[in-house]
Amino acid sequence: MLKSAAGAAAVLANNETSAAPLREFEFSDQDFRTLAKLAYDHAGIALSDGKRNLVYSRLSRRLRTLKLASFRDYRELLAADPREIENFINSISTNHTKFFREDHHFDHFRSRVAVPFAQAAGKAGARLRVWSAACSSGEEPYTISVVLKRELRNLANIDVKILATDIDTEVLGKAARGEFAAAATADVPKPYLSFFKPANGDKVTVDDDVREAITFRRLNLMDPWPFRGLFDAIFCRNVMIYFDGPTKANLIERLTKQIKPGGWLYIGHSESLIGSHPELRSAGRTIYRRGE
Ligand SMILES: C[S@@+](CC[C@H](N)C(=O)[O-])C[C@H]1O[C@@H](n2cnc3c(N)ncnc32)[C@H](O)[C@@H]1O
Repeated sequence: MLKSAAGAAAVLANNETSAAPLREFEFSDQDFRTLAKLAYDHAGIALSDGKRNLVYSRLSRRLRTLKLASFRDYRELLAADPREIENFINSISTNHTKFFREDHHFDHFRSRVAVPFAQAAGKAGARLRVWSAACSSGEEPYTISVVLKRELRNLANIDVKILATDIDTEVLGKAARGEFAAAATADVPKPYLSFFKPANGDKVTVDDDVREAITFRRLNLMDPWPFRGLFDAIFCRNVMIYFDGPTKANLIERLTKQIKPGGWLYIGHSESLIGSHPELRSAGRTIYRRGE
């Protein structure tokens, strides 16, 4: 869901050209350029000129919360207090997601990962590691977890771990709570609905073993990654669209190195592999396999 501007803009000051939209806060070219550079430097997020209004509306909420009078004041705050960077990134990130988004990935994950793993699960040393690399509010890792639960029945006694990471601490908090509006399960296929239980009024939650298979952590994909082992599958979906070409190419290179030989990479519907990645072979629509 896009973070929309809160409240109607009261027209107080506008020192931009007369063609510029009337705004509650002055928002100069320099404000935009400075904030866009911060987003790029800290999160790899490339904000083109076309994102000006989006940046304005998302950050106006923050200015109101902080009772600041202008974007210039906000820039000064960001320069003086590095802790504000976290709120800044939370405000500008786009977190749209849903259960079983791009469901062909989960059909593939079920047949090529979950079912073979279920057959091997009783054997010594059987373990499965999956990474949801920009998990937003958690619908993606919970989907992975219920797909595994359907095949394994009880995830509690099996060595299955799903790591779910995002840069945005606000959505991660929601993800870790594991409570969703009942309406969010509208696209959950029937065989999985029984893993969602009614909770607190109009909400649903998931079975304990489904939740406990997932570890939520803050991780900026631009930073060094703290992993010791490799993953059987990585879901890195609908985040590369916010990055520029060199950032994407570098990220895909690093993701590839983090996948076990024979393991899988799932990317978003409008994303593609930028750069040369000879270790990855196409294995279906936006699905890639690392060579064995
Ligand atoms: C549109 S959501 C995608 C959610 C989910 N993967 C899906 O496809 O439904 C993009 C997510 O990427 C996260 N993100 C953006 N830049 C990031 C970065 N540098 N490191 C980690 N996560 C980032 C955002 O906070 C946001 O939650």
